[in-house]
Amino acid sequence: MTKLGVNIDHAATLRQVRYRGKENLGEPNVIEVALLCEQSGADGITAHLREDRRHIVDKDIHELKSRIRTRLNFEMANTEEMVSIAENVRPSYICLVPEKRQEITTEGGLDVKSDIHSIRTTCDRLQSRGDIQVSLFIDPDISQVEAAAKSGAKLVEFHTGQYAEHYADPDRRHDELIRLQKAARLAAEMGLIVNAGHGLNYQNTSDLVKFIPDFFELNIGHSILCRALIVGIGQAVAEMKALLQPATP
Ligand code: PXP
Repeated sequence: MTKLGVNIDHAATLRQVRYRGKENLGEPNVIEVALLCEQSGADGITAHLREDRRHIVDKDIHELKSRIRTRLNFEMANTEEMVSIAENVRPSYICLVPEKRQEITTEGGLDVKSDIHSIRTTCDRLQSRGDIQVSLFIDPDISQVEAAAKSGAKLVEFHTGQYAEHYADPDRRHDELIRLQKAARLAAEMGLIVNAGHGLNYQNTSDLVKFIPDFFELNIGHSILCRALIVGIGQAVAEMKALLQPATP
């Protein structure tokens, strides 16, 4: 069954809009949110430490690593500052993502082809002790998959933003599913573990897992946190987890 990684960035967004600089006093407590996600079936917790610290802050990453019982997937840009933090924290997974200051969320995948030397150096550095596996957040493009395989990364995460954006249009949805399926097949053949995420929600996720059952894990954040406002985080996670069940024959 496809695993569920819950991205808790937006629990931290809610805290930062009021308590920036006073995170110790702030609510919601993002560690408590993460622990509730785990209790409700999350297989891992994802958190993105952005350069501008707009949601998750350094202290969150350290506390998540020491308190959660599943796996921490630490999303970060490929910069010296972040690589040093990752070497110190030593999460199970690092997901390298492109980062632009003005973007609201991660807008596209990494250009691994153009940046292969620096990405390979980071993969070697972080994976040398064997306790961290590096994932690359890429668009479902064949040339990016080939570059990812050459970089030494152990995983890729496909950006599902285009699929999510065009979900309401049956032809575009089908095209995006085929694009993701081809890229996922090639990545698996090249020995990479294949994840996906971005823009997935309670409407579009089950079609994705039915069409491409061999994703290892989906990372989902915004829609789960939004649903939690209505039904609570435990039920929101459990409902999403149920959508990842394989269809009964
Ligand atoms: N995966 C990656 C690499 C991301 O950057 C994000 C967005 O922070 C997600 C998954 C989750 O996206 P969403 O919040 O749209 O579910």
